[in-house]
Amino acid sequence: MVSRVAAIVPAAGSGERLGAGVPKAMAPLAGEPILVHAVRALVAEPRVGLVVLAAPEGLEEQMAADAATCSRGVPVVAVTGGAVRAQSVAAALAVVPDEFRVVLVHDAARCLVPLEVVAGVVDAVIDGAPAVVPGAPVVDTIRELSEDGGSRTVDRSRLRAVQTPQGFARDVLRRAHAAGDQAATDDAGMVEALGLPVRLVPGHPRAFKVTTALDLVLAEALLAGRDT
Ligand code: CTP
Ligand code: MG
Repeated sequence: MVSRVAAIVPAAGSGERLGAGVPKAMAPLAGEPILVHAVRALVAEPRVGLVVLAAPEGLEEQMAADAATCSRGVPVVAVTGGAVRAQSVAAALAVVPDEFRVVLVHDAARCLVPLEVVAGVVDAVIDGAPAVVPGAPVVDTIRELSEDGGSRTVDRSRLRAVQTPQGFARDVLRRAHAAGDQAATDDAGMVEALGLPVRLVPGHPRAFKVTTALDLVLAEALLAGRDT
């Protein structure tokens, strides 16, 4: 089973909310593109044997070359992403060879995900789960809007914020994308729409998504403390 995991990295977004002036995956973090950190985190898992990037149009070659500098010999290919994330994932999935039975989908923007999360997701798919997502406890008190214009508190102990990498049996992810549920907001949601279960495994605070400039400050601080 070694090296039979393909990792799809959606990196084709523009990064509007970060506002770095370049696509978010190319924005510098501790002197390297965010994408490089994300790929390094994925190939730390030895069962990952292929990385497929979904890149913004025109940046395919550059991103593949950047990622290859940190992929520890794991092959990296890049495809052109789509207008929305699901299309980017579908474009990458289309080039994953049949020999890869397990597929991870990992946002480039979750660039500091720890190995324990990646390994936990892979383990759960190999154990037989068709779809696996890392989930983190919700720290805020959450209120749900009600029909009458009021609101009520939700029991947050039963809630998990979904992170990536999400892991799938390859054929299940192919079926999910072929069905293309429009309402789903992530790949696990598309699998759920097929009527299949989604297994939760522990997420991690470091798997947070770099979305705004504030998140980049946090990521820089975490990396600065890495060797101390
Ligand atoms: N993504 C993608 N293709 C798209 C949109 C997003 O591959 N058409 C990727 C992003 O590159 C990112 C991940 O999906 O790694 C999560 O998306 P998000 O954090 O929303 O990134 P952006 O869409 O780039 O950011 P923003 O929404 O602020 O523009
Ligand atoms: Mg976006």
